[in-house]
Parts: sequence; C-alpha cells; structure tokens
Amino acid sequence: MFQRLLFERIEHRVVVGTIAFLGIMILLGWLAINEGARMRAFEERFLARSTEGGARLLASNCSECHGMDGRGLSGIAPALNSPHFFGFDFLAPVNAEIAQLNAEREAEGTTSARIAEIDARLVELDTQRNQLLAQMQTAIDRGYNPEQPSRLEQLGWGASRTAFVFTTLVHGRPTSVSYWPRPMPAWAQAGGGPLRTDQLNDLVNYILNFDKGSNWTLDDLLAVNQFPKIPGEGGVAAPENAAGTDVQAIVAAITEAPGDPVEGQAIYNDTAVGCAGCHAGGIVGPPTEGTYTRVVEIRLQDPALQGYTPEQYLVESIVDPHVYLVPSYGPVMPDYFGERLAVEDIADLVAFLESQDQPIQ
Ligand code: HEC
Ligand code: HEC
Repeated sequence: MFQRLLFERIEHRVVVGTIAFLGIMILLGWLAINEGARMRAFEERFLARSTEGGARLLASNCSECHGMDGRGLSGIAPALNSPHFFGFDFLAPVNAEIAQLNAEREAEGTTSARIAEIDARLVELDTQRNQLLAQMQTAIDRGYNPEQPSRLEQLGWGASRTAFVFTTLVHGRPTSVSYWPRPMPAWAQAGGGPLRTDQLNDLVNYILNFDKGSNWTLDDLLAVNQFPKIPGEGGVAAPENAAGTDVQAIVAAITEAPGDPVEGQAIYNDTAVGCAGCHAGGIVGPPTEGTYTRVVEIRLQDPALQGYTPEQYLVESIVDPHVYLVPSYGPVMPDYFGERLAVEDIADLVAFLESQDQPIQ
C-alpha cells in the first residue's frame, strides 16, 4: 500500500516530496536555531573564563601600578576602572538641555513669554550644573576635567576602546616616563614583554568588563585615585629661557658658562624630567654609567659623527635625540627637552654626563 502510494501516482509523489522537503527544512531550522544558542552559551563560558584569567593577570602584573581594583594609584598610574576611561559624561543631560533651550531662545518667533520661561529654567540648570561640579571636586583635584569626560577623545583616539587597550598593552608607553615615575611597560612577548597574545586578550576582556554603560555613578568617579595626565601639562613646565634645538648655539653658551655636575645629577634623577627613568640600568636607553667613555671611544669613531666634539654629541643627544640614533635603539627618547629645559640645565646635564667616565661594561 505504501509502495503504491509512493510510486504509482504522480500526485502522491508530489505530496510526499513536498512533505519530506518541509520536514527537512524544519529539522535544519531547528538545528540552526539551537546551534546559535549553543554557540552563545559557549562564547559566554569562554568570555567568563577569559575575564577570570584576566583578573588573575591584572592582580599579579598590573595592580602594583593601577591598584588592585583598577582604580589607579595616586602619583603612580591612572585608573582603568573609571567612568572617564569609558567616556561617561556626567554633565551630558544638563548640557544638552542648556544647548537646546539656548537654540530655542535664539530662534525666530519665540515669544517673550516663552523666553522668560526659558531664562528661568536656564538659571535652574546653571545651579544644577554647579552643584554637580561641586560634587565632583575631589575628582577634579585628582586630575579629572568634567569638560573632557572621555579618555579616548582626550587622546584623539579614533579606533575602538578594545584596540586602544590592546595596543597600549602590546607596546607600553615608554615615553610616559617623562610624566610618570615609571612608564607603562610593554607586555607582548613580541615586544620583549612577558605575556602571550591569549593572556593579553584575557586582560583586554577583563578591563572592558569594568564598563558600567549608562550606570556609572558619582561615587564611581570619586572612588578613582588617579586620573590620566596629559604629557606636557603638569609635567615639566616650559621655562621662559628654553634652550631650543640650536646645538651650536647651546655648545657655545656651555663653553662660556660650564655647568655643575651635582646640579646635573639632580635634574637627571628628577622624575618630572625622566632621564634616569629610561637610562638607569639601561632599562630603555643606553645606561648612564660609562656614557662619556662610550661617547669618546665608540660613538665619535662612527664616520656619521665625524668632526663632532663630545659636548656637541651630548647636547645633540639631549635636544635633538633622533638626528643620530645609537645603533640598535629606536627613536624613543622624547625630543622636547630643548623646549622644557633651560641652557643652564643642559649645561648641568652635560657636566654630569661627562663625569660618567666609568669603563664600558
Ligand atoms: C610600572 C607601572 C605600571 C605597570 C606594572 C602597569 N602599568 Fe599600565 N600604565 C602605567 C602608566 C604610568 C600609565 C599611563 C601612561 C600614560 O599616561 O601615557 C599606564 C597606562 C595604561 C593604560 C592606558 C590608560 C590610559 O588611560 O591611557 C592601560 C590600558 C594599562 N596601562 C594597562 C595595564 C595593564 C593591563 C597592566 C598589567 C599587565 C599594566 N598596565 C601594568 C604604569 C603601569
Ligand atoms: C623615554 C626614554 C628616554 C628618556 C626619558 C631619555 N632618554 Fe636619553 N636615550 C633614550 C634612548 C632609547 C636612547 C638611544 C637612542 C637615541 O640615540 O636616541 C637615548 C640616548 C641618549 C644619549 C646618548 C647615549 C649614548 O650612549 O650615546 C644621551 C646622552 C641621552 N640619551 C641623555 C638623556 C638625558 C640627559 C635625558 C633627560 C633630559 C634623557 N636622555 C631622557 C631614551 C630616553
């Protein structure tokens, strides 16, 4: 009977074929739907494991500078667990209403009665805004600028926050030693750091998980111990008599009035200037000890530096460091010292470096 149903009549075949086709589609659809759920569950478990790994990595590698809770350590490193890091703008609703009312006030055809209403509301909003600012005062004292609520905008970073964190981890910020006591190190094994790519990804996931979206509160803001610093602001102030980058002129001035090596050592070790942060122990740049010996016995033998005097080389290394790069080093040394140090400071630094005539290691 079945056989006859299936094979004898063409109409039956069509019916059976259609039913079979629909059945298969339903089965595939069911599998597809469940596959999505299965993948989501898998991804969630993976992300949970990844952030768990990230938490451990943060505690063991990052907390000494960024704090156990990621809220930064005063004077050491900025917070990552912070409304500012995630760009939450506490003033946005008030600012938006003020802007909208001002636009309405300026618009043609707004009645004087409406203008009076708007003005009354603007006074209220202004009070609200000032109250908010007063509540943020502790954070402002720690470097928060309410008008610049987003870290990424502050830096002009156009790509995603994920890319920002990942890139910072891979390369570190060697130059941040000029405005922090210790720079943000590079963590990727590719860059000579200790962490594998999967560990970096775990850290990125963990840090991005700090984000509270639209639920950040003023308490979160006030719990931040340290906000980021803008290089050049609050770092070394540019003196009025900045040395500039004219090496010959500086060398001439130094020959007239030689510097003091003891003063020079103090400037060199001043964390706000940051020389020692990179050069002590040869962490980022060539080591301090033996600088003068290396200059005379090795650098000035390089044909590229033919005719240089040791003073000229030292001055150029400080005010225009990328003109000649010490072999095997990159252009990492900041090139702004000519703007931030006076000629007398350079004279002192050169005098100090000339006292570093230990034998080369
Ligand atoms: C030796 C201290 C130190 C350690 C250890 C350290 N950091 Fe940093 N980190 C800093 C400093 C200082 C800055 C600020 C750099 C700047 O302002 O350019 C920074 C910046 C950052 C930033 C960018 C923040 C911003 O707003 O620009 C991220 C992300 C970061 N660190 C993550 C980490 C992670 C993750 C670890 C652990 C794997 C870590 N850091 C370990 C000192 C440190
Ligand atoms: C962010 C790290 C960093 C800071 C801060 C820094 N340097 Fe350097 N410095 C380097 C690196 C890297 C090199 C090697 C590459 C080059 O020639 O620029 C270098 C090279 C030098 C040299 C040449 C050394 C040689 O063996 O030939 C001198 C001299 C020098 N720096 C002095 C200073 C002084 C003085 C300061 C502070 C005013 C300073 N540096 C701040 C990283 C730094």
